Amino acid sequence: MSPLSLLRRRTGHDAVGTPAPDRSAGSLTPAPSAGTPPADAPAARGGLIEIRGVRKSFGDLEVLRGIDLTLPPGSVTAILGPSGSGKSTLLRSINHLEPVTQGLISVDGEIIGYRRDGDLLHELHEKEVLRQRTAIGMVFQSFNLFAHMTAVQNVAEAPRRALGVPKAAAEARARELLALVGLEDKLDVYPRQLSGGQQQRVAIARALALEPKVLLFDEPTSALDPELVEEVLAVIRDLARAGTTLVIVTHEISFARDVADTVVFMDRGVIVEQGPPSQVIDHPSHERTRTFLQRVRTGTEQPSTEQPDLDEPVPTPASPALPRSSEDQS
Ligand SMILES: Nc1ncnc2c1ncn2[C@@H]1O[C@H](COP(=O)(O)OP(=O)(O)O)[C@@H](O)[C@H]1O
Ligand SMILES: [Mg+2]
Repeated sequence: MSPLSLLRRRTGHDAVGTPAPDRSAGSLTPAPSAGTPPADAPAARGGLIEIRGVRKSFGDLEVLRGIDLTLPPGSVTAILGPSGSGKSTLLRSINHLEPVTQGLISVDGEIIGYRRDGDLLHELHEKEVLRQRTAIGMVFQSFNLFAHMTAVQNVAEAPRRALGVPKAAAEARARELLALVGLEDKLDVYPRQLSGGQQQRVAIARALALEPKVLLFDEPTSALDPELVEEVLAVIRDLARAGTTLVIVTHEISFARDVADTVVFMDRGVIVEQGPPSQVIDHPSHERTRTFLQRVRTGTEQPSTEQPDLDEPVPTPASPALPRSSEDQS
């Protein structure tokens, strides 16, 4: 499989969230050696993610209870935790699929989903949120491919729609990205003709097509048959340290140990501990972490299903610190 570190991404953008001028096909250049970007292809630039005092409630149920995290550009973070602990909600908050109840999330200093006006936060118009999301790719447990589109069409769709890349260029780039995830022989097939592992690799190629600064993975292998897990993990491994900031929710402990520079253990809406894998996975300091890891290892802790389950509710009233206006007055 070709190393994804050869991708040239996000070259030439200066302002936060401003689309890079060169997003068309032909950005792939052979590198002199693996891991060394070619001279004319600067490494992909990862985004700095800052999560400050984030709380999120669904009605009376508070599922994020004060999350603070700083994820440096190009870092690889694995988030572990029991089902229902708020991992998916946290990931979905990063690209504003879930508006947070309190606190702020920013990527490269740009607040996601809101515009600050003095002490007031105005929720951005959908169009603005969509623009921000082009910098934040997401890969879901259940692939979410368009069933009526071929692999190439699935990958080319977002650049065509969101960035107005011409069809031929978007499809040429899609073929390159599909080759990078090992699917050069599946370009024109439909999702139903692909295995789960192949569908998930199409979904990863699709997320890469917008040249994101940040890539979020929500249990990307949980829906796969065991024999298909490794092919997807291999693609993510290749992506790690290629420059894009990665956040991966996973139950694959040994994968997290290999690939992540930081492991975050969450339980019941809070971060219980975080640190390098050698610390959190091999020498956890909290009993909750130890119990969780033991349960995963013995197969008694199951990955979340995409339908969230309602274990361990934590009811508290929502209390926004900054008043939020849903009307963007810009
Ligand atoms: N849209 C929603 N409406 C109501 N409750 C939700 C919603 N999404 C998630 N929850 C609840 O929030 C909690 C955390 O869910 P989630 O973030 O999916 O956890 P995890 O990904 O760690 O399994 C769960 O109790 C879940 O039932
Ligand atoms: Mg989840």
